[in-house]
Amino acid sequence: MNRKSGLWIPILCLKVLFITTSCRGESFEIKPPHRGFPPVPYLEDSPPTASRIQLGKKLFFDKGLSADSTVSCATCHLPELAFTDGKPKSIGHQGMETARNAPTLLNVAWHPYFFREGGNPRLESQMLGPLENREEMANSIPNLIDRINQNSHYRNLFKEAFDTDVIDFYHLARAIALFERSLISGYSRWDRWYYLGDDVLDSTELRGWKLFTGKAGCIACHNGPDLTDYSFQNIGLYEQYSDVGLFRRTRDSSDIGKMKTPTLRNLLYTAPYMHDGSLKSLEEVIEHYDKGGKNHFAKSPLLKPLRLSDEEKSDLIALLKSFSDTILYAP
Ligand code: HEC
Ligand code: HEC
Repeated sequence: MNRKSGLWIPILCLKVLFITTSCRGESFEIKPPHRGFPPVPYLEDSPPTASRIQLGKKLFFDKGLSADSTVSCATCHLPELAFTDGKPKSIGHQGMETARNAPTLLNVAWHPYFFREGGNPRLESQMLGPLENREEMANSIPNLIDRINQNSHYRNLFKEAFDTDVIDFYHLARAIALFERSLISGYSRWDRWYYLGDDVLDSTELRGWKLFTGKAGCIACHNGPDLTDYSFQNIGLYEQYSDVGLFRRTRDSSDIGKMKTPTLRNLLYTAPYMHDGSLKSLEEVIEHYDKGGKNHFAKSPLLKPLRLSDEEKSDLIALLKSFSDTILYAP
C-alpha cells in the first residue's frame, strides 16, 4: 500500500471533527469507534469542549512554542505519518538529534504512563519534556508563557476556551492534552473484522492472526484494543543496551533494556521501528522475533526462536499491516 495513502483522510477527518462540533464552549464527548475501547478518560477539572481542542490543535502545530520558532510538536509528530516522523531518531532544535524514535500519538488517551520507561504519569506534564528539552524545542516555560500572553489572538482563544484573561501553563497544558486525547485510531480492517464482525480480512491475514495469537506468541504482550498491554519488556534487541530503558527509573538491573510495549496500530506509516528506530522494515522486525532476539540476561522468556517458514513470515506481516487505519475516528 502507498505509504502516503493515509495522508489526507486523517487531516480531513480532523477538520470534520472541528466543524461538526462548532457549537463552541459546549461540552461534548468523543466516542471511540467500538466497544473494544473504554470511554476516553479526561481529567476531572478538564472536560473537553470544541474550542479547547481547537486551541490545543493550534498550539500543537505552532512553531512559536520553541525557543527559536523553528520546531512544533508536529515537527516530530506528523499527522500524515500517524503522528511519527519517519526518522530513526527525531531531529529537533537546531538540528540536534534526540535520544529516541518518536512514537505515535494516536490513542495516547489510554496510556497509563508516557515515555519508554513510563516515567511520566499524564499528558499534561509529559509535554514539559519536549517544550524545555535542549534537543527538542529548547524553550523555558516562563518564556513560552510570556510570549503567548503577548499574542492578542491567543489571548482571545484562551478567553473563549477557558474564560481566563491570564494565560498560564495550567491552561496551555490542558488545551494541548485535550487535542491529544482527540486523536483516536480504531477503525482498521482488523477492527472491522475482530470487533464488528465484518468479513474483511483475507486468508493470508487470517493465517497471520492464527500465528500472532498462537505459535508466534505476539498476543502475550501486544493485546487489548491498542494491541499493547503497556508492560515493560526487554525483547533482546541488543546484548548491551546503550539506552537502558526502565532501569533509568528503577536502578534494578533486571530492568535493563525494558521498554514500554508499543501499539501495533498504523505500522504502515510509523517505520522505522523500536525505541531507537533501528529496525527499518516489518521484514526486519519479523526476522528479529523469528531468531528470538539476542542474548541478554533481562530478556523476556517469551522471546524464543520461532522457526517460521517464509510463508508464515509473510502471513504475519500481512496481518500487521491490517492493523493500519485510513481514518481518524470523528464523532
Ligand atoms: C524533536 C522531536 C519532538 C518534538 C518537537 C516533540 N516530540 Fe513528543 N516525542 C518525541 C520522542 C523522540 C518521544 C519518545 C520519548 C521517549 O520515549 O522517551 C516523544 C514522546 C511523546 C509522547 C509520549 C508517547 C508515549 O507513547 O509514551 C507524547 C505524548 C508526546 N511526545 C507529545 C508531544 C507534544 C505534545 C509535543 C509538543 C509540546 C511534542 N511531543 C514535541 C519527539 C518529539
Ligand atoms: C515479551 C513481550 C513481547 C512479545 C511477546 C512481542 N513483542 Fe513486539 N514489542 C515488545 C516491546 C517491548 C517492543 C518495543 C521494543 C523497543 O522499543 O525496544 C516491541 C516492538 C514491536 C514492534 C515495533 C513497533 C514500533 O512502533 O516500533 C513490532 C512491529 C512488534 N513488536 C511486533 C511483534 C510481533 C509480530 C510479535 C510476535 C512475533 C511480537 N511483537 C512479540 C514486546 C513484545
